Amino acid sequence: MSEKKKFYITTPIYYPSAKLHIGHSYCTVATDTMARYKRLQGYDVMFLTGTDEHGQKIQQKAQEAGVTPQAYVDNIVSGIQELWKLMNISNDRFIRTTDAYHVESVQKIFRRLYDQGDIYKSVYTGKYCTPCESFWTESQLVDGKCPDCGREVADAQEEAYFFRLSKYADRLVAYYEEHPDFLEPSSRLNEMVNNFIKPGLEDLCVSRTTFDWGIPVDFDPKHVVYVWVDALTNYITALGYENDTYHDFEKYWPADVHFVGKEITRFHSIIWPAMLMALDLPLPKKVFGHGWLLIDGGKMSKSKGNVVDPQVLCERYGVDALRYFLLREFPFGSDGAFTNEALINRINADLANDLGNLVSRSVSMVQKYFDGKLPETQQEDPMDEELLTLLGGLRARYEGHMEQYAFQSALIEVFKVISRTNKYIDETAPWILAKDEANRARLARVMYNLLESLRICTVLLTPFMPDTAQKIFGQIGAREAQTTWESAAQVGLLSRDVQVHKGETLFPRIDVAKELAALEGDKKAEEAPKKAEKAPKKPEEKPQGVSVIGIEDFGKVALRVAKIVECEKVPKSDKLLRLQLDDGESGRQVVSGIAPWYTPEELTGKKVIIVSNLKPAKLRGVESNGMILAADCKNGDVKVIFVDDAIDCGATVR
Ligand code: MSP
Repeated sequence: MSEKKKFYITTPIYYPSAKLHIGHSYCTVATDTMARYKRLQGYDVMFLTGTDEHGQKIQQKAQEAGVTPQAYVDNIVSGIQELWKLMNISNDRFIRTTDAYHVESVQKIFRRLYDQGDIYKSVYTGKYCTPCESFWTESQLVDGKCPDCGREVADAQEEAYFFRLSKYADRLVAYYEEHPDFLEPSSRLNEMVNNFIKPGLEDLCVSRTTFDWGIPVDFDPKHVVYVWVDALTNYITALGYENDTYHDFEKYWPADVHFVGKEITRFHSIIWPAMLMALDLPLPKKVFGHGWLLIDGGKMSKSKGNVVDPQVLCERYGVDALRYFLLREFPFGSDGAFTNEALINRINADLANDLGNLVSRSVSMVQKYFDGKLPETQQEDPMDEELLTLLGGLRARYEGHMEQYAFQSALIEVFKVISRTNKYIDETAPWILAKDEANRARLARVMYNLLESLRICTVLLTPFMPDTAQKIFGQIGAREAQTTWESAAQVGLLSRDVQVHKGETLFPRIDVAKELAALEGDKKAEEAPKKAEKAPKKPEEKPQGVSVIGIEDFGKVALRVAKIVECEKVPKSDKLLRLQLDDGESGRQVVSGIAPWYTPEELTGKKVIIVSNLKPAKLRGVESNGMILAADCKNGDVKVIFVDDAIDCGATVR
């Protein structure tokens, strides 16, 4: 028997934070889906995830909590593992960087790099960002702050060990040139070369002496190993590199792909490959830097208080609905705006209406017309061809997208077939065929085609929605051999005399207004849409004059300069544009009623004035944090007040 092909895939290892948010789940769900897809294809898969538990930040948090760092992380890590269980994450291994075998391996790796001269001792002077656990040189700072998170950095000067990163700059560039697919999306590769390698790679400080919650350098124990060196090596120590706990390094390394968020691609595409070069090991085949889920126009963070809890969403809508939404709504390489409304609308449209309805209609009809079991005598018709051809080519189209990590496109292909199958029901009108006994064989064939379409679509949905897929197979009577990867390329595999089993509604329709009210804890929202429908609209009252205010009143309005970095129309609205602004801080989203006068292209890149301390509001369900200043012209036009590009983002206007 030929040996199975191997596939090794990883998520980043997460910092233990009391609440992992939907952004963390995003990467884990994507990795899980890819792992399940490869298993479906017959690969021997190793899917690794874990926790990154050392560093100054953890030590500080433990101190604040009055416990030891080890007790602090132990307590949190079990919660993370629970969340992955809840979300049906099928990781094969879970590494903690506090695991003894990992500690042992890291110490050996550090010593080896020191012995061979790739690590040397010197003095570090520079800047350190504690939240990111990152060292920066003066030239890398943006406005004196951390270029990753925008927070304050602290001076750091200490005796330290350095990794000769500079020595590997040319080899890295040559490697990228020979392997243009190494880092994706490709825009991220340009960013690495232009922003980090071309300005000159400096040697990397890889030890610290100002705190001790880390892996001690065994030959100089007042130093602990820099957390990123500790963390990145997890990808090989978890396979047994330089330890005896696991023994599959030879089998799985190099990794097929590391999935990572875009802000940590730098570590994975520069530092990690250089370390591997120094260790004389092959490089991972690919690093995929996915986008962020944004909320209110910015990255979710606990300090901003805007994190979305995946556990709450799983409990309300089911794990599979959330998994589906995350991979269907946003292209994997780009940022995407998370809103509860988008989630609910997507569940209603695709899962309740399209998929759920198709399952329940098909099974109910087989039940009603054939007592649940189809007869073997069936009559084909040329009108079936279009659907069957579309279905026959589905697996190949889906595979093409999945191989590119284009989850969204793969799902769109499957749902095209689901919609086409719903249309087939309308075209064949089974309720009319059922009226005449003479059409029995034809009706049986129509039913068979519905079930067959559902079978193939469901096989391909299995990696995304594993539990739902099993439920559908149960309802449509598909046997195990009819749910395999091979079976998805064969139309007509379901037994002719298949027996269906009516089951529960897969995705109950959600009342959008009610749910939003419940999710946002805002009871008033429950009434608002109804009231708005009932109340006759008052003509808009224009102020007749302007009141006189004091300077202290004007002072309450915080006017700031901001740059429009992204702009798009708000769906289903003629008037509203959603603008993503660089406000000199962490960025914000504003919704403005200027769509009748401007296209998104005309606005992108322009600088404007915003009222930055306006109470947040929701327009068409889209959060708006502030207002753009614009003037009403005599002819009824509205003109935005643009400002000189030389004025900094965030500058006060007074
Ligand atoms: N511990 C490091 C990774 C070390 S890997 C050797 C780390 N941990 S993290 O917990 O801060 O982030 C883990 C992953 O979650 C990162 O890939 C990060 O990009 C991702 N996300 C965190 N917030 C996110 C969103 N809002 N959206 C999408 N992914 C985000 O970095």
